[in-house]
Amino acid sequence: MSSQPLVLMLGRPAALREYCRPTSALALTAPDPHVSLRDGMTATDSSSARKRIAVIPGDGIGKEVIPEAVKVLLATAASGGKQLALREFDWGADRYLRDGTTLPADAAAMLRRDFDAILLGAMGDPRVPTNIHAAEILLGLRFKLDLYVNARPCVLFDKRFTPLKDRAEKDVNFTVFRENTEGLYVGMGGNFKKGTADEIAIQEDVNTRKGVERIIRYAYEFATRRGLQRVCMSDKSNALTFGHDLWQRVFKEVRAEYPGIESSHQYIDNLLMQMVRDPSQFQVIVTSNLFGDIASDLGAQLAGGLGLAPSGNIHPGQVSLFEPVHGSAPNIAGKGIANPMGSILTVGMMFDFLGWQAEAQAIDKAVRAALKEGKTPAELGGALSTREVGDWVANSVAKSGVTN
Ligand code: NAD
Ligand code: IPM
Ligand code: MN
Repeated sequence: MSSQPLVLMLGRPAALREYCRPTSALALTAPDPHVSLRDGMTATDSSSARKRIAVIPGDGIGKEVIPEAVKVLLATAASGGKQLALREFDWGADRYLRDGTTLPADAAAMLRRDFDAILLGAMGDPRVPTNIHAAEILLGLRFKLDLYVNARPCVLFDKRFTPLKDRAEKDVNFTVFRENTEGLYVGMGGNFKKGTADEIAIQEDVNTRKGVERIIRYAYEFATRRGLQRVCMSDKSNALTFGHDLWQRVFKEVRAEYPGIESSHQYIDNLLMQMVRDPSQFQVIVTSNLFGDIASDLGAQLAGGLGLAPSGNIHPGQVSLFEPVHGSAPNIAGKGIANPMGSILTVGMMFDFLGWQAEAQAIDKAVRAALKEGKTPAELGGALSTREVGDWVANSVAKSGVTN
């Protein structure tokens, strides 16, 4: 018999000082020992222990889709008899505009110490044109927590939703592994003579031996664990003859260790074209930070829409961050029509990471059922609001239950 779930929702908004001093109600304990999980994604765990989740809704539709994801998270945990402690953080544009806070200085250490996983909505707000808060919060967490794997599955659940002609579920089923801690995202560079006709802007592309090797290796390990046959590495080594030559050399070495897997290489321009022409050729794609960003939006659309796409920013064995692939969508924010399914599926990825595979599968099943029965929002041609989709999926999980 499973124990009753203990679910604590703490109020919002809260200032960091409150987060850093856990209340007795939350009763946070020291991190448990790390153990390996099925997917090689590891988490702090003893299988029945309460999981501590930090929730950061962020901006725009992040604030609309995350409550629905949390609704499904709670329904699923309750159904599976799992224990959770949630704590919400108000980091985002509103907070930044109010008091200048982006990512508090001790946030990364606090998250590492007090949480098992982080659920984030989106960052980006037209009132902050520099995007400084998004860079410091989202990229800041990816860098400071060293979340080097950005896993972005592109899985077509129902063929009605792909824009590709004559393609079915079997044709779109791959994962993009995006290097998440270096490349063009490191923020190295600067301006010279800014604002003049002679301005120079430099943005450095950083590729390290360690960084390239660990993401390529992770992609192969994932393929091995899942029993997949194909890994494709994508770069632009024909033009970027230093940085991406390193990718070529590391790829050559790592692929040799996995003779059972069919390894291929495509330049990024060709890769994007091939994803549209014949996505069935891909099972695992591994690429650099910027290319992975671009390829994953394309992949999301092939699988039905940006609003359906989940992702995980992962460092095996450490606190990791889960978020939908989409952004804050200012063009639809506040209308209550955003698709929450990407965030809901993101909770599934997070549960998988935490070792709650049955709960992850229950979420998957409920989203598939919603798609099949046309319980969809405007993005997918339906008439349901964000909240109605969340309610439907949460009820579906509660009704079907979690099968252990
Ligand atoms: P976006 O992903 O926010 O939106 C792109 C398009 O997809 C828009 O037409 C939007 O309406 C639609 N869309 C996105 N999510 C949807 C959903 N759940 N349901 C229905 N439609 C959805 O990308 P953008 O417009 O390029 O960026 C907007 C802001 O978000 C920018 O500030 C950007 O920097 C930021 N952004 C943040 C993240 C993140 O936090 N991870 C990701 C991408 C963009
Ligand atoms: C994403 C987003 C971010 C990125 C932006 C908001 C910095 O597009 O998570 O895909 O480029 O990584
Ligand atoms: Mn993106």
